Formats: sequence, structure tokens, C-alpha cells
Amino acid sequence: MAEQHPDIESVLLSEDDIRTIVSRMGAEITKDYEGKNPLLVAVLRGAVVFTADLIRAIECPLSVDFMAVSSYGDGVKSSGVVRIVKDLDTKIEGRDVLIVEDILDSGLTLSYLIRMLQSRNPASVRVATFAVKDIEGKKPAVAPTYVGTHVPDSFIVGYGLDFAERYRNLPYIGVLKPEVYGD
Ligand code: IMP
Ligand code: MG
Repeated sequence: MAEQHPDIESVLLSEDDIRTIVSRMGAEITKDYEGKNPLLVAVLRGAVVFTADLIRAIECPLSVDFMAVSSYGDGVKSSGVVRIVKDLDTKIEGRDVLIVEDILDSGLTLSYLIRMLQSRNPASVRVATFAVKDIEGKKPAVAPTYVGTHVPDSFIVGYGLDFAERYRNLPYIGVLKPEVYGD
């Protein structure tokens, strides 16, 4: 196991935990999309690590494309402002689109994305998110079909998730020490 990074307060999900979650999700998606050829849309940049693992856990034919939206800047709070930084290269009309996200927090980013993709007349649009952040008294704006796990309302990094573009390469998911982001 990789040594814990000094900026990490605690490890929330180990590499083993992550592997178990991803293979369960892959099996669910394989079953649901049997006989179809879904287009997996990875939301850059956070979802790349999860997407790379997830596609190898799915056994039906699929394609992958990427979108980049910006909702966070370098901070830790959702700004509510979503900007398309990179659009899809694939035409999605008539396709079964599966949006792959790293973490669902307010859901503002995703609800915007879903609306935008729906307007292009795909056969279906669903969401697979590795994690959903549980916030007391608050429900995300989007109901994902596939959920890897629920995480508490603290700022987490690793497995693609960043703080100011750092820590994406940690193979596990950990809670960042509050002093690192200046609390
Ligand atoms: P939402 O629009 O509030 O759902 O924000 C979703 C996006 O914010 C995710 O795709 C992540 O890029 C980012 N995000 C939300 N929570 C965290 C976190 O705890 N760590 C790192 N990134 C996060
Ligand atoms: Mg991010």
C-alpha cells in the first residue's frame, strides 16, 4: 500500500475499497446496457481516473468521449457557474449516453450538463458517479442511476479528485487536512 501523503488527515477509501466499488458498478452497467453501445461521457478532469477503471469493468461494447466544464475554480465551494471548456467530439443523437462523474456535491454541474445533452436528442442520458457527498438537509439537484459510494461532507482528494489541481494522482481517497486549504 502507498504511504499516506502528509497533507491527508485520514484515508476514506483504500485502493481495495475503490476496486470493489468499481467492479460492482461495472457489472451493473454491463447488465443494464446489454445489446447496446453506450457512449460514456467523462467529465474532465476529475473523472478520468474513475473512467479509466470503470470502462475496463464494463463488458458490453462502448465508446468514450470527454467534456470539460468548470464549476469550481481553485476553491473548495461550488460557484454555481458552469462553463463548457471542451465539448464532445461525438454526435449523441439516438445514443445512450452515460455521464461519468467523480463526485456529486450540489449537482449543479451535472444538472446543467444533463439539460445541455438532452437538447441534442440522445436515446437516454444517465449518470454514473463514483461518490455522492452526503450533506445534511440537502439533496443534490440530480439523481444518479449508478452510485459508487456515499462520502461525508468534507473536502476529499485523490483518485482523480483535486484541490487546486493537486492530489489527483493519489491511488486512494482521503480527507484533506483543513490547514492545507486554509480553514
Ligand atoms: P457540484 O456541481 O457541486 O456537484 O460539484 C461537482 C464537482 O465539484 C465535482 O465534479 C468535483 O470536480 C468537485 N468537487 C466537489 N466536491 C469535491 C471534493 O470534496 N473534492 C474535490 N472535488 C470536489
Ligand atoms: Mg475539481
